[in-house]
Amino acid sequence: MKKKNAAIGQRTELLRAAKAAMKKAYAPYSNFRVGAAVLTKTGKVFAGCNVENASYGMTNCAERTAIFSAVAELGPELEVTAVAVVNDHGVPCSPCGACRQVIYEFGPDATVFFQGTEGDKQAHITELLPEGFRLK
Ligand code: THU
Repeated sequence: MKKKNAAIGQRTELLRAAKAAMKKAYAPYSNFRVGAAVLTKTGKVFAGCNVENASYGMTNCAERTAIFSAVAELGPELEVTAVAVVNDHGVPCSPCGACRQVIYEFGPDATVFFQGTEGDKQAHITELLPEGFRLK
């Protein structure tokens, strides 16, 4: 019971941080603003937004912005335990394939909170990315 409440508290905190970051999104091409927040093993929260580019393929998703910010601050020892994603259209939005691989790199046991096709959803990263790639 205690554990469950802790998880709910973390989800609430992550969603709040993700929503705040979403407001900073640079999304002039899609007009689809996304915010993400990651929780580290040491209890820190890092947030990020999507950053688009006129050369569309250069776009960085909110999830990767959040994780890369965490690495920039904490260094390569980053361990991610949870990730939350929100968008300003209130539509289903799970992390894209590239972001799943990046989440897996730093959080092979991470829980991901996102809006699924049937409402709020929580999934283990390996449910979203079976057989994720690792070099070590
Ligand atoms: N996007 C994210 O930032 N995260 C996701 O999980 C899905 C998609 C962004 C990329 C692009 O800026 C916009 O949403 C539309 O695809």
